[in-house]
Amino acid sequence: MSETDVTLAVQAQYEAFPYPPVPYDQPFEGFSSLGSYTLAQYARTRTLQEPKGARFLVAGCGTGYEIHGIAASNPGYGSIVGIDISRTALEVAKRRLKHHGLIHCSVQYGDLLDPSTWPEGSFDMISSYGVIHHTANPLRALSNLAQRLAPDGVIALMLYNRSGRWHLYRIRQALELLGVTPPATPEKIQFVRQMLNAAHPNSLLATHANAHKEYYLYDENIVDNFFHANDIPFDIAEIPDFVAQAGLEFIDVAPHRDDWSARPLVAATHPEFHQRFGELSRIEQLRVIELLEPLYHTQNLFWCCHQGKKIANWYPFTAEFFKGSRWQLNPLFVQYGSVRYLDRKVPFSDLLDKLDPAQIPTQKMDIFWQIAQIPGKVIASSRYQVLELLLPLAEQARSGAEILAGQGEREEHILNLFRQWEADRLVLRVA
Ligand SMILES: C[S@@+](CC[C@H](N)C(=O)[O-])C[C@H]1O[C@@H](n2cnc3c(N)ncnc32)[C@H](O)[C@@H]1O
Repeated sequence: MSETDVTLAVQAQYEAFPYPPVPYDQPFEGFSSLGSYTLAQYARTRTLQEPKGARFLVAGCGTGYEIHGIAASNPGYGSIVGIDISRTALEVAKRRLKHHGLIHCSVQYGDLLDPSTWPEGSFDMISSYGVIHHTANPLRALSNLAQRLAPDGVIALMLYNRSGRWHLYRIRQALELLGVTPPATPEKIQFVRQMLNAAHPNSLLATHANAHKEYYLYDENIVDNFFHANDIPFDIAEIPDFVAQAGLEFIDVAPHRDDWSARPLVAATHPEFHQRFGELSRIEQLRVIELLEPLYHTQNLFWCCHQGKKIANWYPFTAEFFKGSRWQLNPLFVQYGSVRYLDRKVPFSDLLDKLDPAQIPTQKMDIFWQIAQIPGKVIASSRYQVLELLLPLAEQARSGAEILAGQGEREEHILNLFRQWEADRLVLRVA
């Protein structure tokens, strides 16, 4: 098939089955770490940059839910424009933006392979979630985006992960042998739904069906997984080279739950593993994780920037890195984090404004941060940690704080706290 034919087939699919099938009036809840300008810029520079006035492009916005997420995750943004080749998806997106009063957001027809169809100018942040791997020429699509990225801008991408989607591709091959091939029809969708429902309870097929029970209630999602006109997955190790060919530099994967961390895979009881792991380059580390747990990541969520513009290393966190640093609590955490103590879960901002710190009980506290989505992770467990470290950091949010200065023998304890809190996410080094 020629590039034009592939684009037409993908367009026809998304016009018949606009994606994602999220009702236009559904509120956006949560936070998009990948779509956060502040986090992406922090990963690139280790400095704090707020999204005030920033211009965003959502390349392949579909029905606009992603635009809503980016708007919610970037307080004070300047404008967000979404482009897509599916006119039916754009209609839903327009309804969504209007319904939620997102007045600085707009959408228009635009093909990633034809920049003459895009809005003019450059963008501070470009987000393309689950799109480039569906285009007829992923490298050209990304190169086009790179051309429109502001010099210090960031691109947030989601590209399918090959090994994580292995089972899906096998099911698709089986469907082909059974004669159930793209393009989707109501009968073929029904066939897949019935096959998944009829999967033997102990089978791998049933495991897949159960994990996607809610998702497959929508025809659009069955089509996206089993009848796609064009879908090109990537191993994590391929990504730095791929983005380099487009003139870009890989920054890192975006924080999301405990993804891309070796700790849930190999316990600290094997220190030599962790020592060797710590000596690898970042991309080698990610590759090791992917090899040890090949089915874990169905998606690669990561940031990139212009070559030579990644001016700080995200890893590793050495004692030298922590010492002599000034810190502040991530303002996004102040806005979106919550603290649970006793049986209550209160926004962190309430802790700052309404409660008398002296009244905070000393029982174990859990801190939840939507952005990093570290479910149930206990990251503060004493009155000392909250009262003497987190609250002061929050109060000095703009100036930073020299936490280690004068701490003497408690220094090691505080270094461990920073590590435990994954300093890049919850606590930011500002100088
Ligand atoms: C899986 S959907 C993702 C939608 C949205 N990014 C999200 O995550 O909710 C892929 C979208 O990419 C669009 N798309 C595919 N190829 C495109 C191209 N060449 N130019 C612009 N959009 C394209 C499709 O029409 C579809 O709406």
